[in-house]
Amino acid sequence: MATITIVGTQWGDEGKGKIVDILSEYVDIIARFQGGHNAGHTVYLNKQKYILHSIPTGILHPNKTCIIGNGVVIDPNAFIQEVEALKKLGVKIAPENLRVSKRAHLIMPYNCTFDLEREKKKGKNKIGTTGRGIGPAYEDKMARVGMCIGDLLHEDTLTKSIQNALPEKNSLLKNYFETQEISPETLLEECKKYGDILKDYLADTSVLLNKAMTEGKDILCEGAQGTMLDIDHGTYPFVTSSNCIAGQACIGLGFGPNKVDGILGVTKAYTTRVGNGPFPTELTDDIGKSIQDKGKEFGATTGRPRRCGWFDAVGLRYAIRVNGLQTIALTKMDVLDHLDTIKVCTGYKWKGETFHDFPYEAKILQECTPIYKEISGWQKTIHGTKQYEDLPQKTKDYVKFLQDTLEIDISIVSTGFERKETIFINNSLLDQWLKLSNRLVN
Ligand code: GDP
Ligand code: IMO
Ligand code: MG
Repeated sequence: MATITIVGTQWGDEGKGKIVDILSEYVDIIARFQGGHNAGHTVYLNKQKYILHSIPTGILHPNKTCIIGNGVVIDPNAFIQEVEALKKLGVKIAPENLRVSKRAHLIMPYNCTFDLEREKKKGKNKIGTTGRGIGPAYEDKMARVGMCIGDLLHEDTLTKSIQNALPEKNSLLKNYFETQEISPETLLEECKKYGDILKDYLADTSVLLNKAMTEGKDILCEGAQGTMLDIDHGTYPFVTSSNCIAGQACIGLGFGPNKVDGILGVTKAYTTRVGNGPFPTELTDDIGKSIQDKGKEFGATTGRPRRCGWFDAVGLRYAIRVNGLQTIALTKMDVLDHLDTIKVCTGYKWKGETFHDFPYEAKILQECTPIYKEISGWQKTIHGTKQYEDLPQKTKDYVKFLQDTLEIDISIVSTGFERKETIFINNSLLDQWLKLSNRLVN
């Protein structure tokens, strides 16, 4: 299997958690490379629900090593709570199987306040962030006033960083947001407390990963969010504040681009979006509502209802291009079971112009009319189907249509939220990767 990167191809929540979970069995290391606890990756295991926020999904597999890379931003309090919550569910977490890059940046309490207060001030023009302080933490990193989690181990560095950052933050907290200032002493004490709890998890994870690669270990790089939420390539400004596309795996983990052997995109059989921003194929009718209900489309992090719409092949072709996707895992096929007709957007029309390439302008995305290809629904339950041959012909036709339209290999068709409710496609690229590493799907 070597080193494989898994990314979301839409606006997040494609089912990355489920796909990373089933593939974790075939690798040694699972590593997150961007985002923070804005992510919510859900896995069902024997009817027990697990939601991973900043910890890699691979943690549910005993005897695997999980890594949180330098590209991730970490709220130490949320991290500690996540570890405790998972332990309560029986998940084995210890510094030996969860290594955190010393270079990962911290989400400070004022980052959260800035996030929430800015959203309040924006009113109806808000982005609809998760309110976790992600944007402000990445801003501080870029502005070079951020703090790394490794700084928690060095009181002198920590003191200097706090003294450097706080005057500006406090001025804004007091005068612009009209909220409470933060005392440097209190913040320092809080950080020292976190340092004591977290010190054993911290490591130079780039060294660990590169060594593992030299030893021939198999590695999964787990993306969070999705291509359309990428800070550079997404529907700016309605995006998150990190690069979510596959290229970020190298940057957010500290290895060279030549080390990646395969890139897999996770795609829902339809589209969802949580938060504001353009969504050309959005359905605001009963069909959209039925997909939301059947797909249980409510945010794993904030519980907000997800907006639902048809599959957007224009967006997907764009995701294939900017990520360099080689193969796709198609999830939530079973959610479309009840529909007599399924639509796929193959182009956008805007002011007499037809777009087959995803346009840069949010304005065009907001105003365009999708061009749809209608496909006959299968109207049978496929929930839990495990063999491709057992799918109704019309379901196969939908898969084939997507494959031909997108001109990409499809490796997995997911038919339910449990591990076993998954079809591995014979002779797909993933199949070849697994065979190469001698770790066959049984
Ligand atoms: P992620 O953020 O990409 O990991 O996705 P989320 O976990 O936020 O949302 C995906 C939801 O769909 C989760 O509740 C999964 O359990 C569920 N899910 C994943 N694959 C399937 C599938 O094939 N069928 C159904 N019905 N649910 C699925
Ligand atoms: P996973 O990994 C879906 C969205 C938010 C908002 C925008 C910016 O579970 O797919 P942020 O808090 O990041 O500044 O919010 O990004 N968003 C997600 N949407 N899935 C996610 O993660 C998301 N993480 C952030 O809803 O629109
Ligand atoms: Mg999610």
